[in-house]
Amino acid sequence: MIHGFSKLDKPDKLQWVAQQFSKDPDSFIQILSSFRHPDEQTQRILDGFSENTISHFFMPYGIAPNFLINGNWYSVPMVIEESSVVAAASSAAKFWSTRGGFHTTIVNTLKVGQVHFTWNGAFERLQMLFPELKNALLQDAAPLTYNMEQRGGGVRDIRLLDFSSLEAGYFQLSVHFETCDSMGANFINSVLEAFGQTLTAFLESHPALSDQERDVTVVMAILSNYTPECLVRAEVSCSIAELQGVCDDLDAPAFAKKFHQAVTFAHIDPYRATTHNKGIYNGIDAVVLATGNDFRAIEAAGHTYAARDGQYKSLSSCSIENDRFRFWLEVPLAVGTVGGLTRLHPLANASLDILGDPSAEQLMMVIAATGLAQNFAALRSLVTTGIQKGHMKMHLMNILHHLKAQPAEIVNATLHFENKAISFNAVRDFLQQLRSTTSNPH
Ligand code: MEV
Repeated sequence: MIHGFSKLDKPDKLQWVAQQFSKDPDSFIQILSSFRHPDEQTQRILDGFSENTISHFFMPYGIAPNFLINGNWYSVPMVIEESSVVAAASSAAKFWSTRGGFHTTIVNTLKVGQVHFTWNGAFERLQMLFPELKNALLQDAAPLTYNMEQRGGGVRDIRLLDFSSLEAGYFQLSVHFETCDSMGANFINSVLEAFGQTLTAFLESHPALSDQERDVTVVMAILSNYTPECLVRAEVSCSIAELQGVCDDLDAPAFAKKFHQAVTFAHIDPYRATTHNKGIYNGIDAVVLATGNDFRAIEAAGHTYAARDGQYKSLSSCSIENDRFRFWLEVPLAVGTVGGLTRLHPLANASLDILGDPSAEQLMMVIAATGLAQNFAALRSLVTTGIQKGHMKMHLMNILHHLKAQPAEIVNATLHFENKAISFNAVRDFLQQLRSTTSNPH
């Protein structure tokens, strides 16, 4: 147990962790220090994002080029540690770029916030006062909403919900917000907290209410990360004939059939749906991270949306009708291109530059297209060669790097393992053999 860790300066924090947890404190400190940014100003910005930082955790930052979305070309920045994901997105993007590209539409951009409160009275009595309460809420929060309204956003709707049959006295203000190009979490939460105060004052002092009806408690005021009304749709389509050549072993109709079955299975079986959707989020999260958005919020919303019918299902769908193959994804994506880390993190800023300084809606479309591309690539591999072929190539590289293989050894090993099973032991043995023959040619 340590008290006051947060008060230590950075070198002392690092020193403490090294002494406590490392067998070799000096090299531990050296390694962690080497991942700090050399520029003091940048380092300060990065340190400002979180608490108790002692270093940085690097993640690969890649680019998936050749995304044709609604007729515009994009190179998509992706931050992800899993091998094959960026390659898969790039390959699917290229494939669809010669078949009309991705077509995306914004279904809606509203977000929801909630004031959860208990009240000692009947719902009908609250309903009676609701128009008056609504005016008071909007009026009191006007200084907070003014700027957002100037940008075209603000509070769009306030509803009163009755949960008292499930939990005694539980009611809720459910508020719809438009937050334009910002994700809007700070704005929404500030307005909700102000609503909570107004609600309390209103009910505690309203002359039409009895003493008992003045008993109100705001339990919490917070946005909901479930954003089914902040929704984007991405679609690709082509004739069945245009799928010809998608893989060597299957002709176009057979591929379309297997692909369609794969999507159907993910609508039937939650075990398969979870993995299927995980593949979609391989693409989505990577762009969300690269642009400094909140991937936990995005994932949480998506999984709830996937279960909106009461059973967890695929977020993507496929149809084959009149000789046409269609594959689409509908997903909630509450992201921003201003505020939060989006412009503060130097690499998030660079990502937005790469994407041509998009609006939040444009970013939603790029992210949805990337999720769909990723899903297409995963299913294409799964229903044809299987994913291990591609994965194992990257796995081999990771093992070779781990074993500190030299460039010539990497070339040799890549050739050797082209059609052989790859395991750590097999690669280690191969390298040992190679090294012994090279150092002792006779
Ligand atoms: C691996 O990260 C993602 C996949 O498992 C997705 C899927 O099965 O559809 C390949």
